[in-house]
Amino acid sequence: MKAIAVVPGASALRLVDRPEPSITSPDEVKVRIVRVGICGTDREEAAGGRALAPTGRQDLVMGHEMLGEVVEAGKTVTRVRPGDYAVFTVRRGCGKCMPCSMNRPDMCRSGDYRERGIWGLDGYQTEYVVDKEQYVVRLPRELETIGVLCEPLSIVEKAVAEAIQVQAARMPDAAATPDWLFGRRCLVAGLGPVGLLAALALRLRGAEVYGLDIVDAGTARPAWLAHIGGKYIDGRQSPPDRARQELGPVDLIFEATGIAPLEFNLLDVLGLNGVYVLTGIPGGDRPLNIKGAELIRRLVLGNQVMVGSVNASRDHFQMAVDDLSHAYLKWGDHVARLITHRYPYTDFAAVLQHHASDEIKVVLEWQNTMSPYSLLGGRL
Ligand code: BGC
Repeated sequence: MKAIAVVPGASALRLVDRPEPSITSPDEVKVRIVRVGICGTDREEAAGGRALAPTGRQDLVMGHEMLGEVVEAGKTVTRVRPGDYAVFTVRRGCGKCMPCSMNRPDMCRSGDYRERGIWGLDGYQTEYVVDKEQYVVRLPRELETIGVLCEPLSIVEKAVAEAIQVQAARMPDAAATPDWLFGRRCLVAGLGPVGLLAALALRLRGAEVYGLDIVDAGTARPAWLAHIGGKYIDGRQSPPDRARQELGPVDLIFEATGIAPLEFNLLDVLGLNGVYVLTGIPGGDRPLNIKGAELIRRLVLGNQVMVGSVNASRDHFQMAVDDLSHAYLKWGDHVARLITHRYPYTDFAAVLQHHASDEIKVVLEWQNTMSPYSLLGGRL
């Protein structure tokens, strides 16, 4: 079967042949890949950045944001049946620590985890995948068009859940209500797919959402945000110090930019008792000049918390499925408009090396590659 592979550390992408996997134990599920999303991590791998090939191999099959159709299920599998749409999680545990033994490899303590398509395990940019039932989540059929957004949304679900749990653990008003986010002022920084999905999750919970980016207000991402009731802030006109005057202090910051200086500057907008959750992974090692004492003083005197959050557990994927269902009921086809570009998998090189200016999420199609999308040049 065909697969898209990268040699870690080099920017050589290639279409390779791999043996089709088969089920070898009763708790395994075999899935035919329908489509796979591409994110900044994939593009970083393609450019020679962070990635690790499986032991004994030189190349790594890419892809971690998948949607597939179950074609076979082992004897003891109960979560999915052949014909179901399903997604697999990304991280596989170290087999040694307590969180991994509790199916929480997203909180692995040893650091010896692997991630499909990223770190030491082949990913999903291929025709068939087999994995254990404990990593699979079933997807309702009506979510077929947006199910590929489960993985990036799972990252959001974990980060938002952590922010709520942190607040509930320390603030009397947050502990008293499960709806702490209702009516809260939230700033989402970076309106890529993760930022827009964060806006979606926060809006579903009744938050007042402001989205910060540096694109023109009339373009695709601010327009998508406005449709779900979010307000756009153009960071070129409102740097963080001015944003604070315009916005007032915010209760929660969801960061999805991966731009280190901005990540620090955003603390200017965080209100008293605020929580700031970071999901962007900055590249580069350039030293930064920051006002350290002022930042720490503000954190301490303001009772503020900064939380870094990465990856997601199976439960967060399930929360993502549930939120996609709610979002689909609330906003219908608007959710699918996050997927702005669809290409046949054979176009992988161009897609991984270029970023269209009007792109939100781009996906590679592994079935029906002569679909109307590809005939229209990838435009929806
Ligand atoms: C993925 C996560 C992964 C992280 C670090 C992200 O792009 O969505 O699942 O844990 O990269 O490798």
